[in-house]
Amino acid sequence: MTTIIEPFRIKAVEPLKLTTPDERREVLARADWNLFRIPAEDILIDLLTDSGTGAMSAAQWAAMMQGDESYAGSRSWYRFRDRIRELTGLRHVVPTHQGRAAERILFACMGVEGKIVISNTHFDTTRANVEFLGGRAIDIPVPEALQPADEHPFKGNINLSALEDLLKSEPGQIACVIVTVTNNSGGGQPASMENLRAASEMTRRHGVPFYLDACRFAENSYFIKLREPGFADRTVESIAQEMFSLADGATFSAKKDGLANIGGFLASNDDRLARQEVELLILTEGFPTYGGLAGRDLEAIAVGLQEVLDESYLRYRLASTRYLGEHLVEVGVPIVQPPGGHAIYIDAGTFLPHIPPTEFPGQSLACALYEEGGVRSVEIGTLMFGGEDPQTHHERIAPLELLRLAIPRRVYTQSHMDYVVEVAEQVVRRKETLKGLRIVEEAAHLRHFSVKLAPL
Ligand code: F0G
Repeated sequence: MTTIIEPFRIKAVEPLKLTTPDERREVLARADWNLFRIPAEDILIDLLTDSGTGAMSAAQWAAMMQGDESYAGSRSWYRFRDRIRELTGLRHVVPTHQGRAAERILFACMGVEGKIVISNTHFDTTRANVEFLGGRAIDIPVPEALQPADEHPFKGNINLSALEDLLKSEPGQIACVIVTVTNNSGGGQPASMENLRAASEMTRRHGVPFYLDACRFAENSYFIKLREPGFADRTVESIAQEMFSLADGATFSAKKDGLANIGGFLASNDDRLARQEVELLILTEGFPTYGGLAGRDLEAIAVGLQEVLDESYLRYRLASTRYLGEHLVEVGVPIVQPPGGHAIYIDAGTFLPHIPPTEFPGQSLACALYEEGGVRSVEIGTLMFGGEDPQTHHERIAPLELLRLAIPRRVYTQSHMDYVVEVAEQVVRRKETLKGLRIVEEAAHLRHFSVKLAPL
């Protein structure tokens, strides 16, 4: 059979509310053209994020009933910790309520003030946490990552020669290197094992810790299996274990490849650092055996970290993302190629050449897709990454103006995706009429979440 089906059937359903274009125009105005401000009830297909939006399995719901809600030393904690140790080989596991809490604790304890953190591409919360603590976040993706149409199989790779240069020219100044797998902001593209190994060796040789932002480690591992010579016959679990073995530590949001709706962790092999992390954890997140999570959340994550490595799941996952991407291309929408693991990134800069980056072409397209069909997506461009540079005080322009359609795990079917493509096709027909936006009100950090906009 050539049809790759959803390898599950649906046991519980949630109705979707249909709205009219007139209603949606009103909703958009009330939300100040910021899709984060729209009540989810008014969204038909929600592709804002794949984070915490997945459907849990019957096994996960069953495990939640087993949740041990003891304050200290709960049984669920040991299940959670042991699964993470087995998967990552990292000794110290610090539970957190989500990924950014792990980032904040890590960077605070590492002491990034006045130092540099290097990544293939920092996710927005990662960059914001480094900068908030007085550090400098430097992105060094491979050059192919900035060529949306280039079909390179591992566009999530970190630029090794730029890494070597930085490690040599900034001795003692680099707090850590953290590679995001898959590279979310760069198009959901994987890093190869070869690249991770080289980056890890080089970084450690300079006495700098090497970390993974492992949010989508399973999708990255499966890409390695499919695309990197020598991995075709390996289990995805063993590939994931090998990836983690290259790292001194990892941050993780269980809302992605943990297949859970909340949760995360910070892990490492550094005894001293882990002690400091636990101290900070107790101050703001919770006792070290729950870290801001309920026992039932720990259970759901422990099971999710097992299920996510199931190959029939990963085959479907990558195929459904590719399906959306290929059909969007067919109706004339340029996307970042090849399709990533968790999302399709529309190249809005190329699609809407008449709207300059300072007028947010990605956001304009996001508003049009909502107005046309109630589809919510997220701009990943100058609205997200722009604003004033804390070092130079200049306005930043993002390297690419992208619009992300992120696919929640195990939630939507193929006909939902067909509908999204049809909506996009309607927008293609009137793309010349789309207009840019201007900022009316913005926050100092992570402005895209709360920004108020107005059409030009
Ligand atoms: N790192 C990456 C690569 C992420 O994609 C995210 C979240 C985080 C860290 C932070 O994790 O949300 O649990 O605090 N990404 C979501 C997204 C929000 O939509 O891509 P968190």
